Amino acid sequence: MAQTRSTPARNVIVSGGARGIGRAIARYFLEAGHRVYIFDIMEEELEYTVKQHLKKHYDAGRVQSSVCNLRDVQDIRTKVDQAAKFLDNRIDVLINNGSIASPYWKDGKTMEDQATFEEWQAYIETNLTSPFATSQAAIPYMKTEQKDAETGAQKLGGAGPCIINIGSFRALQSDPNQEGYASSKAGQLGLTHAMAVSLGHLGIRVNLVAPGRIKVAHESREGDEKGENWEKQVSEKDVDDHPVNRAGRPRDIADACLYLMDAAFVTDITVDGGASRQK
Ligand SMILES: NC(=O)c1ccc[n+]([C@@H]2O[C@H](COP(=O)([O-])OP(=O)(O)OC[C@H]3O[C@@H](n4cnc5c(N)ncnc54)[C@H](O)[C@@H]3O)[C@@H](O)[C@H]2O)c1
Repeated sequence: MAQTRSTPARNVIVSGGARGIGRAIARYFLEAGHRVYIFDIMEEELEYTVKQHLKKHYDAGRVQSSVCNLRDVQDIRTKVDQAAKFLDNRIDVLINNGSIASPYWKDGKTMEDQATFEEWQAYIETNLTSPFATSQAAIPYMKTEQKDAETGAQKLGGAGPCIINIGSFRALQSDPNQEGYASSKAGQLGLTHAMAVSLGHLGIRVNLVAPGRIKVAHESREGDEKGENWEKQVSEKDVDDHPVNRAGRPRDIADACLYLMDAAFVTDITVDGGASRQK
């Protein structure tokens, strides 16, 4: 008879969880019984998400948050320590989701415009440097302890700690005027395989989920207030671009993360979060 896998409650950090895919990830992890700590730079949106959108989990003491600027390494280190306090000094899952998610240079600029250089720096710092810095700050709270090796505890079931980077199909495929976003997301592919190899001996698995085109406007305070829903946002292109022949939901990305959390022998892979087939 197949054994039923028990999934113990895990302690989870989600960056960029005030809205969008990050908000959905936080909610689905909470609904699955885990404890979640959210980082975001949008203070009011974060407050709304934690205290109103996720009220029942907040009242139950299972979700907390900090305003954190992912472009500020010192802020990241301080807020990871704060999160760890809330999570009893144990971080099981770190989801590096916070990003500048718009793939185009602002205001229709092209790379011929030198003003894109500042935007380039913002993409690289937010989307590539911050997953590195946040992971670095979380390692002391994630790594397998020496005593686990001595007792063999790390070999006894359970999937162990893991880091999940939220990348993008844009790592591999561009439209014009996406150099900053594409490069930051392509950099995450290298970061993921390098960290997977380096952190294996600490018992930490590292994987990446690469979403395709996911409509997220309903995952926000404004979306809640206007009664937005996902169906209304989906275009024919959102369906046609995906090999599964339907558009992607934020829930699909949360499901991929829940899978990776429990996939004990999976590290150094990119999970297709509905990657696009458009060329
Ligand atoms: N939605 C899509 O179609 C899609 C496609 C591919 C990849 N992705 C990736 O999925 C992730 C989530 O995207 P989304 O669509 O939900 O975007 P979103 O803009 O709705 O959410 C991104 C979140 O990151 C936060 N953030 C941005 N800069 C920050 C900073 N300096 N410090 C702290 N927080 C910061 C924002 O405030 C926001 O809450 C991103 O990594 C994005 O690149 C999204």
